[in-house]
Amino acid sequence: MPFFRRLSPRRLMIFGSAFVLFGFFAFSLAPITSPLPRYTGPHEVGVLDVEVEVEPRLVNGNEAVLKETGERAFELSTLAVTLYYPSTIPPPAPGQPQPYARPWLPQPISLIGTGYARLARVYFPPLQALFTFTMWALGSSTVIPGIVDAPLLSQSQKTLLDESGGISGLGRVTEAEESDGRMELRGTKGDKTVDVNVQGIDNLLKEKFPCVVFTHGMAGMSQSYSHYLGSIASHGYVVAAIEHRDGSGPGTIVHHPNGTERRVWHLQLADLSASPAMTAADLKVAQLAFREAEIHETVQLFQNLTAGHGATLTNLKPDSPSSSLAGFKDRLDMDAITVAGHSYGATGALQALKCAPSADVPFNGGIALDPGKGSGPLNHAIEVPTLVLQSGEWTDKQTQFYDQGWHFAVVRDLVAATRKGWFLTLRGTAHPSVTDAPLIVPWIMRLVTGTTLNAEVALREYIDVSVDFLQVLQRVRNAGPLTRPVSSPEGPLGEVQDRGTVEGSSGGEWEVHVVSEV
Ligand SMILES: *[C@@H]1O[C@H](CO)[C@@H](O)[C@H](O)[C@H]1NC(C)=O
Ligand SMILES: *[C@@H]1O[C@H](CO)[C@@H](O)[C@H](O)[C@H]1NC(C)=O
Repeated sequence: MPFFRRLSPRRLMIFGSAFVLFGFFAFSLAPITSPLPRYTGPHEVGVLDVEVEVEPRLVNGNEAVLKETGERAFELSTLAVTLYYPSTIPPPAPGQPQPYARPWLPQPISLIGTGYARLARVYFPPLQALFTFTMWALGSSTVIPGIVDAPLLSQSQKTLLDESGGISGLGRVTEAEESDGRMELRGTKGDKTVDVNVQGIDNLLKEKFPCVVFTHGMAGMSQSYSHYLGSIASHGYVVAAIEHRDGSGPGTIVHHPNGTERRVWHLQLADLSASPAMTAADLKVAQLAFREAEIHETVQLFQNLTAGHGATLTNLKPDSPSSSLAGFKDRLDMDAITVAGHSYGATGALQALKCAPSADVPFNGGIALDPGKGSGPLNHAIEVPTLVLQSGEWTDKQTQFYDQGWHFAVVRDLVAATRKGWFLTLRGTAHPSVTDAPLIVPWIMRLVTGTTLNAEVALREYIDVSVDFLQVLQRVRNAGPLTRPVSSPEGPLGEVQDRGTVEGSSGGEWEVHVVSEV
């Protein structure tokens, strides 16, 4: 119990009462948590937790072990992702029961509570319980507004639905059934229910969905970004959000095919024993390599799903179904996979673009949201279109970056050197603005992070510009901020009057620092 030994009774009491007060504070605020809003695109969204066996290996041959358990710290044996994908089944109206709801907090909550406690270096079980209680108070009533294991949007439905989510004469589609080349659709128009039969759908275009691999930030989880990612899915993309097992999250459980499980807690240098001893920089290299291995396994998972292995796949995630996975056969566009990430994950996404596009690294582009300031130097060897979006806070609070100059200048030069990238800043936002947190506890987040842009507007802006970028990769033209000229070439490094902005689709203000030359 290192925590106990380090602390005098007096400090322990101060700690203890602070956490008790914080707990009651959080609990009393619980009623002010807001449900997650609907996704922004025309399609409904299916959501599914999937964990699959991969070829077990020590990533980079790293043999470091955890002092606590003696287990290998960088052993990859399964891949866990949360899939978000376009579907047709709408979630029930607010207040209606949702039989297959996916709780926003991963289960068991105690794993996440204890994980965050350990992140804060709290090892004393009663205090860890208080973290769990706080998580429960703030997060347990939130569900992800997608349908677990819903069928993937069929080809014909994708073709029929227009961007407004409706079919002429039908309004919003609420049910769709397909058999023998015929489709029956039910929709609502005003308060009336309308039924339509569509014949000959076999002849409609066969379409495949472009895919996105998403990698979370330090202390993040795969579902911390459910609104951003679910909304991208609702615009017609299959998104896999990785639950990294590199020791960067609060806690996650690896479920082995033989029924045993291994808990992976947040990892710090002092937790590791290796010879020669690892440095902080070595730990980042090891974690980023682990993340890259998981990113490549996710591409392999897409490959397996579109090859039709979904029907026989064993989903190791407990209590998670997999019946919709058979429907992914021939439906994923393996030539259109984009890698995206936030913070540590943005650094990882940029790193994963090294050597892209190639058979091994089939990425057509990358999205980096607030690329990490402390997560290691950034990869500059990028040949594919890249979108970097920064929060106002990330751009304004400048730090020197690994002896390379100001972080802003390093990122700007990196994007400019690709000649086919964009670098923008969304004013009035902070580092967590792209996560779900500001949607669930809006005013706690506003107090803590000092954002001035409404949380939902900020997310809409992030989503719209990201979808615009994905559409540019699909050669669909758009009219958003990506088509506008540079408005703020020097950002925080220039004069205040030279920091112009352009208006986004939802009223946010973007500073445009770099635009694509092609
Ligand atoms: C189960 O599989 C894991 C991973 O392959 C292995 O480390 C563990 O020893 C196995 N346990 C049993 C009881 O077979
Ligand atoms: C993909 O399928 C192959 C062959 O069945 C299997 O060995 C591999 O582990 C699978 N990988 C993933 C990530 O699903």
